[in-house]
Amino acid sequence: MENNSQALLRISNLNKTIGKRQILHDISFEAYSGEVFGFLGPNGAGKTTTIKIIVGLLGLDEGEIYIDGSEINKNFEKAMANVGGIVENPEMYKYLTGKQNLMQYARMRDNITEERINEVVETVKLANRINDKISKYSLGMRQRLGVAQAILHRPKLLILDEPTNGLDPAGIKELRDILKHLAHDEGVCVIVSSHLMSEMELMCDRVGIIANGKMLGVYTMEELVSQTADEKREYHIHADDPEKALRTIDLPDADKSIDDGIVKIKIGAENADENIYRINKELIVSGVKLYTVTAVETKKLEDVFIQLTADDQEGGGQIG
Ligand SMILES: Nc1ncnc2c1ncn2[C@@H]1O[C@H](COP(=O)(O)OP(=O)(O)O)[C@@H](O)[C@H]1O
Ligand SMILES: [Mg+2]
Repeated sequence: MENNSQALLRISNLNKTIGKRQILHDISFEAYSGEVFGFLGPNGAGKTTTIKIIVGLLGLDEGEIYIDGSEINKNFEKAMANVGGIVENPEMYKYLTGKQNLMQYARMRDNITEERINEVVETVKLANRINDKISKYSLGMRQRLGVAQAILHRPKLLILDEPTNGLDPAGIKELRDILKHLAHDEGVCVIVSSHLMSEMELMCDRVGIIANGKMLGVYTMEELVSQTADEKREYHIHADDPEKALRTIDLPDADKSIDDGIVKIKIGAENADENIYRINKELIVSGVKLYTVTAVETKKLEDVFIQLTADDQEGGGQIG
């Protein structure tokens, strides 16, 4: 998607200081039409601050933000006409129905037809409950009504700050499917923030990782997953004579060490089963008493996230 389309959102060198503290340091990234872009980082990383600046709720100190070609400081109204978002809890009237809420909101915008209202209600899968009062809605339904409200004016950019917070797994899946549909089928550039890697993994096409107000990297989901799919496998060997075991293991590209009396080896994932069988046999033949050989679990996505953010941690970051 990067190669054949211009970025819908382009942020360069965004800096923001609140009081005496610099909250954002040189944030730069791009997001494209048709993708779900995840903004991933621990609590306090600067996600909400960045999002507030993108949707125009907060000013920036330095940097440029282009939305569909309009720079927000030079052409604020034109830039914002393309933005829909939920940053804090959306304004809703509990004593009104979902439909009445949307009508109320539509009156504040230009050119929103009842047909369009019905269309977004279908999109967010609320058709059968739209005439119920909001007070009867689950959190997930309210969140979906918030999405309906945010997309009424057909924004090219939809930004949601931690939209899955507090939702149950079914609610998360419903929301995820809707956001993917908006991006992949309707060409919207959808940006969501989260502190949960596992959620981003299922929802996003790309993620930008932010910690301590710095963008640490932007990755496609495949890149992030391949970082975790270790090409090596690790085994721990418990034997009576670790030194002898170490000498006996004869694999040219194996990475071998002894740690606390345990022989640790890393071997290529390809042919690992065959090689570990051979190593087992050689150890036994050479007279080493082999107690256990344990395969050590390879890194999970969550670990990579923690590692990426920990490298830049001045303390205080929390991953939940
Ligand atoms: N209005 C504010 N005044 C002072 N500090 C703030 C304000 N808003 C946010 N911060 C600080 O900025 C940092 C980033 O906050 P935030 O953008 O809310 O992070 P996130 O959304 O990633 O959890 C935090 O350390 C937070 O305490
Ligand atoms: Mg936040």
